[in-house]
Amino acid sequence: MARKTYIDDTAIVHPTAEIGEGSMIWNWTKIRERAVVGVDCNIGQSAYVDFETRIGDRCKIQNGVSVYHGVTIGNDVFVGPNATFTNDLRPRAHAEDWQIEKTIVEDGASVGANSTIVCGVTLGRHCMVGAGAVVTADVPPHALVLGCPARVVDYVTMAGHRLHVSPADGLPDSDRLNDKKLQGS
Ligand SMILES: CC(C)(COP(=O)(O)OP(=O)(O)OC[C@H]1O[C@@H](n2cnc3c(N)ncnc32)[C@H](O)[C@@H]1OP(=O)(O)O)[C@@H](O)C(=O)NCCC(=O)NCCS
Repeated sequence: MARKTYIDDTAIVHPTAEIGEGSMIWNWTKIRERAVVGVDCNIGQSAYVDFETRIGDRCKIQNGVSVYHGVTIGNDVFVGPNATFTNDLRPRAHAEDWQIEKTIVEDGASVGANSTIVCGVTLGRHCMVGAGAVVTADVPPHALVLGCPARVVDYVTMAGHRLHVSPADGLPDSDRLNDKKLQGS
């Protein structure tokens, strides 16, 4: 049976945007020109998906999140409520030639509520950004980062459990990280 796609009556989805099968677009959310949202995603209330951005499959983008042009989101990504992406490193209201700084969120990453992702970084696969963190540098795969500026404090498994290891020891063995298999991996 085909999975049902739901677009709330109050959402504005541009006719050129692609919404994957089984995805849900909730109240007062805007999906702009040529944006692509994968299958089985949940895009919460009052979210904004900028033109030509890509969100992968099975993502959860919570209420109040803006995915600006230049931000690319992989599969199985969780973005917590009111997390903030950016795309202009040195903003000026009067600048006429500002450049987009890209941000990449790799598969399986989670971004905590109310965190800020300063543009130009990659959030590595299955990493976890703690609530309220300000990310200013690349986050390694499976790393847990906290604070302002965000620092690696630990590593987390596929399922999101902390391993309580020293960040100085680097990425733990895959046996310890792979406690869950994701669809499509
Ligand atoms: C980072 C996180 C995963 C840590 O969980 P945890 O291991 O259970 O953490 P604990 O509650 O045991 O706290 C451990 C320490 O980290 C601190 N801490 C926890 N979360 C923190 C955060 N986001 N930023 C800074 N410090 C944090 C605690 O204060 C505690 O410090 P202490 O040892 O000095 O007392 C969790 O706190 C978090 O931020 N999750 C994201 C929640 C979220 O945004 N969800 C979105 C969907 S609603």
